[in-house]
Amino acid sequence: MRHPPEQVKIGLMGLGTVGSGVMRLLRDRGEELARRNGFTLSVQKILVRDPSKPRQVPVDRALLTTNPDDILDDPEIELVVEVMGAVEPTKSYVLRALGAKKSVVTANKEIMADHGEEVFAAAERNGVDIFFEGSVGGGIPVLRPLKESLAGNRIFRVTGIINGTTNYILTKMTQEGQTFQQALAEATRLGYAEPDPTADVEGYDAARKLAILSSIAYQARVQSRNVRTEGITRLTPTDIEYGKRRGWSLKLLAESSEHGGRVDAWVAPVFIDRNHPLAKVDDVLNAILVEGEGIGETMFYGRGAGSLPTGSAVLGDIIQAARNRRREVSFTTCTCFRDVTVGGPEESPARFYLRIEVEKRSGLPAEVVRSLERWGIGLERMDYRDLPPSRAEVVLVTQEAPESRARTAIEALGRAPWLVSMGMPIRVEAEEERAPAGESASGEKLERRVLAAGGR
Ligand code: NAP
Ligand code: HSE
Repeated sequence: MRHPPEQVKIGLMGLGTVGSGVMRLLRDRGEELARRNGFTLSVQKILVRDPSKPRQVPVDRALLTTNPDDILDDPEIELVVEVMGAVEPTKSYVLRALGAKKSVVTANKEIMADHGEEVFAAAERNGVDIFFEGSVGGGIPVLRPLKESLAGNRIFRVTGIINGTTNYILTKMTQEGQTFQQALAEATRLGYAEPDPTADVEGYDAARKLAILSSIAYQARVQSRNVRTEGITRLTPTDIEYGKRRGWSLKLLAESSEHGGRVDAWVAPVFIDRNHPLAKVDDVLNAILVEGEGIGETMFYGRGAGSLPTGSAVLGDIIQAARNRRREVSFTTCTCFRDVTVGGPEESPARFYLRIEVEKRSGLPAEVVRSLERWGIGLERMDYRDLPPSRAEVVLVTQEAPESRARTAIEALGRAPWLVSMGMPIRVEAEEERAPAGESASGEKLERRVLAAGGR
């Protein structure tokens, strides 16, 4: 007679976008997984805020609870799956679960990016697992490959599009001419955005994910507060259009690099060449380009947010943690043992695109050039067009210079008495590709001056 498969009992904290994805996959794949693994994954309790709310997936209402003790104090629950979000009370629940020798699977970047040390220490003390593949890149398996499969490399750079919401917004603004608000509303409806989308659009979510990736890549503790972060809220359709006409793609990139005990880490919108490997990563897709001594370049690509992709990453972790429980082993090792300084890329060479509106007066283009030259910043290109009756728009691309100096020069330009407004300076990592002669970024006739030295 065959014995029924053994059960691994799970407490699920959160039944929103990600929690529903996990439940749907368990419902659809549960029997097959049980056959394959020799145990069933059985959700015993689900913590929610409001049990009366309609759910995205059918669940037995008797499983729902608003009391975390129903999970944390249940000795039969071996595995806690945290997909609630936020730092508190969530971190306290995670630490209590680990303290009770329950393994934890989480998709929480806020906790893993900035409180990872505390959480890892608790897991190690208690000999249980803490897995967090869903916290970076949604459904893309990237953390475990980086930690394990690429462990033999010295990784020196990680560059990614690691926020699905902002990539979706920029894609819709670029390809369909949607407004920022329209695209954000759609990203929220599709379950990509955070409950408060400020974290997405201001770049904080990408900074947290970059901190997690960088900590693993360089075996060093990188926290999101050390990542220089800019979001996409100050970008305009005119900026996007300007890049499009030059064959550039505007992407919110997250990048870190390690050299000589220093990690430079930043998140910012960047114009990249249309042939760049990340240029065709559109919609909610994410990609992470890892550069290492052994592998050269390796790219991880896939759906970076959403219910089922993230549910897939979380379920993969659940299965691994459950297998480990059966074998009485844990994989938890914090690999952050190196001491490094973390900061922005102050001295790295950078070029910037900048759009300003100025009061129209004679000799003005030359004044713009002189203002920047005072800081040793030359211009690669400058487009100028009248905005009748009394203003003009100047769009410029600087020559390469140390980033901090270029930013100081742009700040000084911002204080010029004739300046009316200044858009967001955007890094350019693409080659210059000329617009058809006599046309501005917006397609209107312009008085175009490419100033080699000094303008006029
Ligand atoms: P969500 O849709 O807002 O769902 C959150 C769930 O947690 C809800 O079921 C909510 O209960 C419950 N909850 C929140 N705070 C609670 C509290 N204090 N007590 C009890 N229950 C509480 O969030 P989500 O999009 O699934 O994201 C969950 C986590 O995964 C976050 O850390 C997020 O950053 C991360 N993540 C999300 C995605 C994605 O694509 N959405 C991808 C990767 C990682 P009610 O339903 O009753 O309100
Ligand atoms: N809000 C996040 C994003 C969810 O848009 O990428 C996935 O982590």
